[in-house]
This record gives sequence, structure tokens and C-alpha cells, in this order.
Amino acid sequence: MAHAYRLLRPLLLALPAEAAHRVTLQALRLGLVRSRLVADDPVLAGRVWGLDFSNPVGLAAGFDKNAEAVDALLGLGFGFVEVGTITPRPQPGNPKPRVFRLAEDRAVINRLGFNSQGLPSAVRRLERRGGRARAGVVGANVGTNWDSADAAADYAAGVGALGPVADYLVMNVSSPNTPGLRDLQTRPRLMELIERAKSARASAAKGGRGEPEGGGPPLLLKIAPDLSEDELRDVAEVVFVTGIDGLVVTNTTVSRPDGLEGRFRNQAGGLSGAPLFARSTEVLRQTYRLTGGRIPLIGVGGVSSGRDAYAKIRAGASLVQLYTALVYEGPGLVGRIKAELAELLRGDGFAHVADAVGADA
Ligand code: FNR
Repeated sequence: MAHAYRLLRPLLLALPAEAAHRVTLQALRLGLVRSRLVADDPVLAGRVWGLDFSNPVGLAAGFDKNAEAVDALLGLGFGFVEVGTITPRPQPGNPKPRVFRLAEDRAVINRLGFNSQGLPSAVRRLERRGGRARAGVVGANVGTNWDSADAAADYAAGVGALGPVADYLVMNVSSPNTPGLRDLQTRPRLMELIERAKSARASAAKGGRGEPEGGGPPLLLKIAPDLSEDELRDVAEVVFVTGIDGLVVTNTTVSRPDGLEGRFRNQAGGLSGAPLFARSTEVLRQTYRLTGGRIPLIGVGGVSSGRDAYAKIRAGASLVQLYTALVYEGPGLVGRIKAELAELLRGDGFAHVADAVGADA
């Protein structure tokens, strides 16, 4: 597979970014991309929110927005896959072109704007694959329609519909490409959003799969790397007051770090990949400190090696995710990251990922 990818890579990188992504997703769906799967090194295993992860390296939201290729993606060796962002109703997103590679910077800028096939089709696909009974951890990331009059109702709808078929849920309040969305990260709006989402989760769990009231999968919030320290402090307080289960840190950035070379660097949208690593890891470290390590964090932003993944874990992440590095490195990257991470953990005398979480914070 890695060999086939080496042949295909120049072709994919010659296509416009979004077309290349479509081809890749179709190939995965059709079972044309496979990894020789070896069992994960036991040092990588861990239990978070009562869920068993064979390794802590996940695929970030945005790659499989409509849950079309979940099992093929798990088959690449990811410990977990997060589908979405899914909006309640289908919507096309922004006009194309809206995804730009900055190859010189190992980065991407996107302003997709939640192109989504909507909740019913994602729920159907996840049900068809066996929902939560199936092996491999699958998270679902939910958002709001761009023309919605009631954002909190949209998140509640997503949580209610996907709760019964996902292992964890993420409310994405940090995409830079839906006007007004990131304003939901302020304290009063977050409180409302989370309380309504929690009620939706509880009713869905009660009716859906015979769970006790208040049951249902863990509920997480995905935050932006552009929050100030004061804003992060607010988020941490909201976490404690609402009892939310975790945070995904971080989404793409609207900032443009110095030194970007790609000719698309001034395109509007969210920047991801290597230039995001330092900032997102710093926000992760601050968030870990502010929450006192009391809730699990998923560290995401610029991970392209085992060393990067290890740095996120030491800064406070119980799990890590990546997306952009996959564009440049291909599916063989997942195995390389896991091997390097296992070696680094052992080299520092850690028996499990959990023992290294927050070691630097
Ligand atoms: C994303 N990301 C994203 N995040 C999210 O919560 N919902 C989404 O729909 C998307 N869509 C999306 C599309 C594209 C093309 C990219 C590159 C990214 C953000 C992603 O999940 C992640 O937070 C950032 O990309 C940072 O990680 P990487 O890419 O630097 O590893």
C-alpha cells in the first residue's frame, strides 16, 4: 500500500486539493487503500472516558465529514476516527476553490464552511456499520447550519441524533469559516449550548439504547487556537460548571505565523499543519494547567511525527489527532508515528501513554 501510494502521490498533489481529497475518500470507500495492519504496541494502549484505545493517534474531523469511510480509515491504523463536522440540514458550504495547499510550509488553508450532507445520512451510515457495537472508537463532530436562527438547537439536534451511534461527541464552536460561530466560545453562550446539548444527550440515551438518564457518550468541545488566556480561563470555568467531559485543542487558526512561503498564504480561512504546531501545543499546555488535568484533552494541530505526538501528550493530551500531515505524507505516516511514539515513551521509562500525559505542564 505504501508503495502504491508513492506512485499515486504526484498525481494526487497535481490535482486541486479538494478533488484529490474526493479521489482519496472514494478509494478508501472502495477498499483500494489498505494497510498491512499489525497489532498495536501495548505501550500505546489506554482507556479514556471508559473507552479502550489501542493507540492514541486519531484522525481529526474534516477528513470524513459524512462518515463515508470510517472502517477503511480505522484500517489505516488510527486508534480512533472523528467524523464531521455534520450540520443538521445538508448544505453546500462556501464557493470553490476553498481548500489550498501550502506545500512549502507543510500546511493547508481551508474555508470549506461546513459542507455537509446533513444529520440523517451520517446517522444512517453509522447505524449501518453497527454503531457503537463495532470495534474501533468513532467520534462525531457536530455544528450549526450557516443560516440557522438558533445555534444551540442545531448542536442539540446533532448530539441527540448522533449520541446513540457515536462513541464520543464534539461540539465544534471553533471553525473560522461560519460567520459568528467562534463567538459561541464566550462564557454565557457556551453555558447555554452545553446545557441544551446535555439534555438532548440524556433524552436520546434514555429512549435510544436503554441507558440510564444522564447517560450517553462523552460530550466534548473543540476550541480555537486563537483564544486569549482570559478566554481560555472562561472555557475552563465553563468546563467545571457544566461538567463537560473533554476538550479538543485545537481547530485551525485565523492567524498567519511569520515565515509562511506558500503562494496561497493570504487566502482567507483556517490554517492547519506544521505552522500551527507551536501555537496549538501552547494552548493545549495552558488548557491542561487551567483544567488541572481533571478532564481528558485531545491534542491536535500540526502533528506529523511521533515526536510531535509525544510533545502533545507531554503538554497534556490524553489522545492526539492529525489531518494535514496525511495530505503530504500519505497513509504510511500513521504506522511511523506510532512506532516512534512507542520508542519515545519507552525511552523515557513510561509504561503507558497515560503516565506521560502532562509531564511537561
Ligand atoms: C479541518 N478541520 C475541521 N475541524 C472540525 O472540527 N470540523 C471540520 O469540519 C473540519 N474541517 C477541516 C477541513 C480541512 C480541509 C482541514 C485541513 C481541517 C480542522 C482539523 O480537524 C484540525 O483541527 C486542524 O486541521 C489541525 O490539525 P492538523 O491538520 O494540523 O493536523
